[in-house]
Amino acid sequence: MIIDHHPGDLPGSALDAHVAPVGPPPHDRGLLRLNMITSADGASALAGRSGGLGGPADRAVFTALRAAADVVLVGLNTALAERYRDPGPDGPELCIVTSRPARALALSVVASGAATLVVPEDVGPLGPGVRAHRVGTGGRVDLAGFLVDRVGKVVLCEGGPTLAGNLLALGLLDEYFLTVAPRLLAGTSPRVVSGPYADQGLWTLLGGFSDAEGYLFLRYARPPGPTA
Ligand SMILES: NC(=O)c1ccc[n+]([C@@H]2O[C@H](COP(=O)([O-])OP(=O)(O)OC[C@H]3O[C@@H](n4cnc5c(N)ncnc54)[C@H](OP(=O)(O)O)[C@@H]3O)[C@@H](O)[C@H]2O)c1
Repeated sequence: MIIDHHPGDLPGSALDAHVAPVGPPPHDRGLLRLNMITSADGASALAGRSGGLGGPADRAVFTALRAAADVVLVGLNTALAERYRDPGPDGPELCIVTSRPARALALSVVASGAATLVVPEDVGPLGPGVRAHRVGTGGRVDLAGFLVDRVGKVVLCEGGPTLAGNLLALGLLDEYFLTVAPRLLAGTSPRVVSGPYADQGLWTLLGGFSDAEGYLFLRYARPPGPTA
């Protein structure tokens, strides 16, 4: 593990190395990466959004991870709070998880069919033009089943904390990219991964670097052992 300090702009080579896959993807489901940002004292949002925590280098990591992804997966609360937009024809498939799709229709990216709503099988009809992937019963999306349906793909979860906590609890997370912003906020913001206790042992620190502003960029792999 090496922590390099790169003054000024991050070299592209450092970014490429940071986001490049290590090892083969799982053979039976998509590879699942999580990318989150936290303040140095553990807050996941500033004024209700994560964007206020970031800086230019964090945006560069965010963009590089997206460029390396086939699918972006987010919880509906995040898509609403961060006003998710169409990633464009060359971008990854944008998938938004919810059990209450009516809330999602406020997003133009959903109403236009540019994003895929990931919903349980038992939700009612969705509006014309809305693209949906139905997976799971009992009012819950089967997140493991969703990943099986994306076998061979790189799936990048961009949060939020609730969805990340659900994925962790199911043992589905393969890699964790964390930006630590050099700010202390206190307040009541949730942790970046939130939910029931779900310790899986020690994750492997694959690498990291800092930028001139003091942001820290870390990359972890799941603890060794069988994948979910
Ligand atoms: N620090 C960061 O890196 C970061 C990243 C992203 C977001 N954020 C911040 O986090 C906040 C939003 O996060 P959040 O934790 O409130 O929400 P979230 O994780 O974005 O979304 C949670 C919602 O996702 C749906 N969901 C998750 N798992 C599901 C499942 N198995 N089946 C069905 N639906 C499922 C549910 O929607 P329904 O309730 O509609 O069923 C649930 O309420 C915002 O403030 C955002 O700015 C921070």
